[in-house]
Amino acid sequence: MTHVIDGNAVAESIRDDLTACVDALRDEGTTPKLATVLMSEDAASATYVSMKQRDCEAVGIEAIDVEIDPDAPADELYGTIDDLNADPEVHGILVQMPVPDHVDTRKVLRDVDPAKDVDGFHPANVGRLVAGDPRFKPCTPHGVQRLLADADVDPEGKDVAIVGRSDIVGKPLANLLIQKEADGNATVTICHSRTADLAAKTRAADIVIAAAGVPEMVDGSMLTEGVVVIDVGVNRVDADSEKGYELVGDVEYDSAAEKASAITPVPGGVGPMTRAMLLYNTVKAASERADVAIDLP
Ligand code: GUN
Repeated sequence: MTHVIDGNAVAESIRDDLTACVDALRDEGTTPKLATVLMSEDAASATYVSMKQRDCEAVGIEAIDVEIDPDAPADELYGTIDDLNADPEVHGILVQMPVPDHVDTRKVLRDVDPAKDVDGFHPANVGRLVAGDPRFKPCTPHGVQRLLADADVDPEGKDVAIVGRSDIVGKPLANLLIQKEADGNATVTICHSRTADLAAKTRAADIVIAAAGVPEMVDGSMLTEGVVVIDVGVNRVDADSEKGYELVGDVEYDSAAEKASAITPVPGGVGPMTRAMLLYNTVKAASERADVAIDLP
């Protein structure tokens, strides 16, 4: 039997525990506050931001949403980040990526105060993660790690193939899984568009994590029997549906599920966990600023 890993259920349990943390912080006079910044016309980005806003409300985190015209000068975004950095009420800042081409993405990542960088994208926070002393674990990699733990899959000693080398998922996830820590100790291969024989790498893996942003690029023929499959992809593909599209992952689900001992669905797998771990980082940022110790889930 293939175990279908239920990201919605794991995320809900984390949100419940975070609600108690928020209550404890509020009792000490601090209400965690997240600022999201959207400078994009992309419908999917707007949807993600509104879901993050809704999640905050559900656990008692205050949320503000700053929307910047995608045609506005880059300075408008840089100035917004400066203002949010200086605002003592704001504990976390999330600039939804990607930003328009005329904006310097690396400057945006550098400009967010590392103590408010709930994405974990600032170079100082990337460095801390690599050094084994993370301040904020990036949300999607952290969510993947939690899903594996919930499914009783210990990465220790396992061969893991990560398909995709992005700064948001592939690279930080590899760094988390190789740490000499609980939920780490894996042997990780990072595959990408120039990997010579991708199927050989994925077939040799006990755990395959697909995060390339290419619809259904990993199928059952590329997997070994009993593999654990984590699908990070969320791709909109044209479909004869009311919305005109459907969501598919980077994994061809049916053929992969035939081989897998455990697999995440899309939607309902990694996506809800990314959002839950953003709440986690926001609560962590608030507790550190307020210097109030809380038991994070
Ligand atoms: N765009 C896609 N994923 C992410 C994410 O995790 N954080 C931000 N800020 N933008 C994204």
